[in-house]
Amino acid sequence: MVAEPTRLEWWKTGVVYQIYPRSFKDTTGSGTGDLPGITSRLGYLSDTLGVDAIWISPFYPSPMADFGYDVADYTDVDPMFGTLGDFDELLGEAHDSGLRVIIDWVPNHTSDRHPWFLESRGSRTNARRDWYVWRDPKRDGSPPNNWRSVFGGPAWEFDEQTGQYYLHSFLREQPDLNWRNPAVEAAMFDTLRFWLDRGVDGFRIDVAHFIMKDPDLTDNPRAVPSAGEADFKDLGDYDAWEHVNDKGHRDVHAVFRRLRSVLDEYDGDRFTVGEIHIFDWDRWAAYYGDGDELHMPFNFSLVWARWDAGAIRSRVEALEAAIPAFAWPNYVLGNHDEQRLATRYGPENERAAAVLLLTLRGQPTIYYGDELGLRETPIPGARLQDPWGLRVPGMSRDGCRTPMPWTPGPGHGFTDPTVEPWLPFGDDAQTRNVEEEFADEGSTLTLYRRMLRLRRNRTSLVAGTIEFLNGIPGDVLGFRRDLGNERTTVFVNFADEERSVDVEPGAALLLSTDHRRTGIGSGRLTLAANEAVVLDPGGDRRPI
Ligand code: GLC
Repeated sequence: MVAEPTRLEWWKTGVVYQIYPRSFKDTTGSGTGDLPGITSRLGYLSDTLGVDAIWISPFYPSPMADFGYDVADYTDVDPMFGTLGDFDELLGEAHDSGLRVIIDWVPNHTSDRHPWFLESRGSRTNARRDWYVWRDPKRDGSPPNNWRSVFGGPAWEFDEQTGQYYLHSFLREQPDLNWRNPAVEAAMFDTLRFWLDRGVDGFRIDVAHFIMKDPDLTDNPRAVPSAGEADFKDLGDYDAWEHVNDKGHRDVHAVFRRLRSVLDEYDGDRFTVGEIHIFDWDRWAAYYGDGDELHMPFNFSLVWARWDAGAIRSRVEALEAAIPAFAWPNYVLGNHDEQRLATRYGPENERAAAVLLLTLRGQPTIYYGDELGLRETPIPGARLQDPWGLRVPGMSRDGCRTPMPWTPGPGHGFTDPTVEPWLPFGDDAQTRNVEEEFADEGSTLTLYRRMLRLRRNRTSLVAGTIEFLNGIPGDVLGFRRDLGNERTTVFVNFADEERSVDVEPGAALLLSTDHRRTGIGSGRLTLAANEAVVLDPGGDRRPI
């Protein structure tokens, strides 16, 4: 057994909740959520639900070409979301309620309306020209290399005025910053200090590994399909290339070491988690550095895993094997870029998925609305908003970004009843909303509340070791978490029918996805189809 750590920082013990601010709570009647809306719902987060930290997706001034991931000013708040004063109020009240606050930081690119870019594109000789990646066309006028944009098409946009191309790994409205220029690094690190000085607890770093590219901008080779990653999301044309030169250059690690030292200028366990879609675990784990780079790279390995006991187990084991002893794992099953988990894994599995997320070893991040079991909302063509979906059919992320339904009835407590929200509600919002689910013993919200409470009271689930159980049916995942004398056992039945497993004779039920279950048989437990249970194998506790 690994030595038990003596001090666990909040980001190791806590559960994070991601808020997409456009869709959480509107206080102005605009049809779009805002910061005061989040402040007004802090009690829900800290008490009703019982999470420990919130991550808020971007709320910076932005032309909203990519809904805030195109930042025009890193040190202010877009009027649509409120003011800096509103942010300070949110932060103060969150801290008073015991909630940590993580904000999104978007270092790879700015908006094309950011003053830095306006200056940079003004002339070939201006002082900020080299803040972005500008290159001459090839002799035939074509782009400097074969790099593609994640959102489709070439990663280069020709600028008529100065006769050069600029690089954009995402939309043309999102020019990539040149992180090889020390002035860019210094300016961006200052934006971190701006928020650290205000008291934020950490940053989620958008496409963190993209910031360093091959300095010679060498072409990417064609991709060789790899069987191992076959069930990760298919990005079409983008995936036809091996992205060895346009992101993740080894020089990125030195940047993150320097970034870590910026955080270390501050007390209070400030935290970073990088959005890093790498599925080669050694390369992925390199972002922990020697404990001197990111606190964590986000682990997306389960997001597109098949809902299958073997597939999940092998991914968890691969991850556990790849991370250094000091490193803390993390799990995420949904976010603002992915289909809702209830739809992806199947609605019959979304409750078991919640138990899995909150019992695996590592920091869990819950995506807003998943605690209600929200489904992917079909968005009619005329209401599509996501630029990716508008460019590449089938890629829209709108369906997972629909407004949070707080109550039944018009407006659903999200916005004014007479106002059309920026995206439609799911058609089950009348019943699948906070008010209804709070009152329902059998709801997904009640399951999350119980599971979060259990996690708080059961340190083995937070900080224990993890060991998979063998000798159980192949479509059941079983594992135990141990810390000191406390052991917790988890079984997840992936089958659509009953499965039985042996359990210790004195085992007691702590929680089931089926709220009607009151106990387990002695020595043998029959799991219902798609059921997950949490047990105290030697316990005589009553179910939570
Ligand atoms: C990240 C964000 C995504 C955004 C993209 C470009 O992947 O999660 O929403 O569109 O970066 O900033």
